[in-house]
Amino acid sequence: MINEEQIKEALKAVKYPGYSRDIISFGLVKDIAVGNGAVTVVMQLTTANADAAQQIRTDSEAILRTLPGLNHVFVEVRQPTPQQAAASPWKNQTKMPGIKRIVAVASGKGGVGKSTTSVNLACALAHLGASVGLLDCDIYGPSIPLMMGVKGRPNIDANEKLVPPVSHGVKLMSIGFLLDDDQPVIWRGPMIQKTIQQFVSSVAWGDLDYLLVDLPPGTGDAQLSLCQIVPLDGGVIVTTPQEASLGIVRKGIAMFEKVNVPILGIVENMSYYITPTGQRVEIFGHGGGKAEAERQKTTFLGEVPLFTEIREGGDKGVPVVAGDPKQPAAQAFLKVAEMLRAKLG
Ligand SMILES: Nc1ncnc2c1ncn2[C@@H]1O[C@H](COP(=O)(O)OP(=O)(O)OP(=O)(O)O)[C@@H](O)[C@H]1O
Ligand SMILES: [Mg+2]
Repeated sequence: MINEEQIKEALKAVKYPGYSRDIISFGLVKDIAVGNGAVTVVMQLTTANADAAQQIRTDSEAILRTLPGLNHVFVEVRQPTPQQAAASPWKNQTKMPGIKRIVAVASGKGGVGKSTTSVNLACALAHLGASVGLLDCDIYGPSIPLMMGVKGRPNIDANEKLVPPVSHGVKLMSIGFLLDDDQPVIWRGPMIQKTIQQFVSSVAWGDLDYLLVDLPPGTGDAQLSLCQIVPLDGGVIVTTPQEASLGIVRKGIAMFEKVNVPILGIVENMSYYITPTGQRVEIFGHGGGKAEAERQKTTFLGEVPLFTEIREGGDKGVPVVAGDPKQPAAQAFLKVAEMLRAKLG
């Protein structure tokens, strides 16, 4: 006898038209009734687009018909009226054609090395042969241009789009390019939404395998609304061992869950320190990230020790992965990048 879980599992093979994410992770399936060789699945779309509904129905039915023991397959796809759809939280999502995977990097709080991880992962994915973009959405403290060694402002092309400068093989765009250096910015909710939306849609990225998005630290409304504007394929959470043990990681996971963004896994940064004499010192404790990943049933993407070279690389504008990929510090990031790439398929 086939059960609800198996139906759900099978439906994970159905992608939302035009996206790399599946319909289960998008939270479309609302009801499954199975018994006596028949299954009925009810899905609710947030768009009024009839073609998308039709395709999802056809694809879902085709997959379910391959399951053994099912003689009758019914898939009902409900859609809102155009008026209802206009009120959907996804209506502000900016399509980003040509970009295969968009991944957000988040953390429960500041200073855990989120930006350091973002730049090094971007350089690592580029080092592994992918075309990579990095979008600095940290509206409170955009630090990516400095860490990537990019000065000045981006050019504007003939279509009035922002041209991302390329550094260490990574295309880069930062909200910092648009802000005044010395002016502190006070953001109010609607302003964040509007600015980011306009910003995100006005970048000429070209074709990318991966776009990494550095979110502002924390898991409040600003972060949440950013996750809704950018059509994310998944989220990575950066933590220190100490932060993980305080349950702050859970807030990050909850944020992604709220907007149906799949959690790709957890990276533990500042895991330990190796002294010049080769002694390993676990300054903030160790293993918190891994333990929390297990508790939260998500993937542990790897650990990055404290290395002076990592801090120096950030200060110089040459991330350690770009400066010397053979360094143990760079190897740690490269391992995480490989895990991430495998997760994204
Ligand atoms: N593994 C590491 N080894 C050594 N230094 C590190 C490591 N990770 C981060 N740092 C250093 O710690 C500082 C904070 O890192 P970073 O700016 O990446 O944190 P963040 O989480 O992005 O902070 P914010 O909340 O301000 O955005 C930087 O000076 C960085 O170079
Ligand atoms: Mg940062």
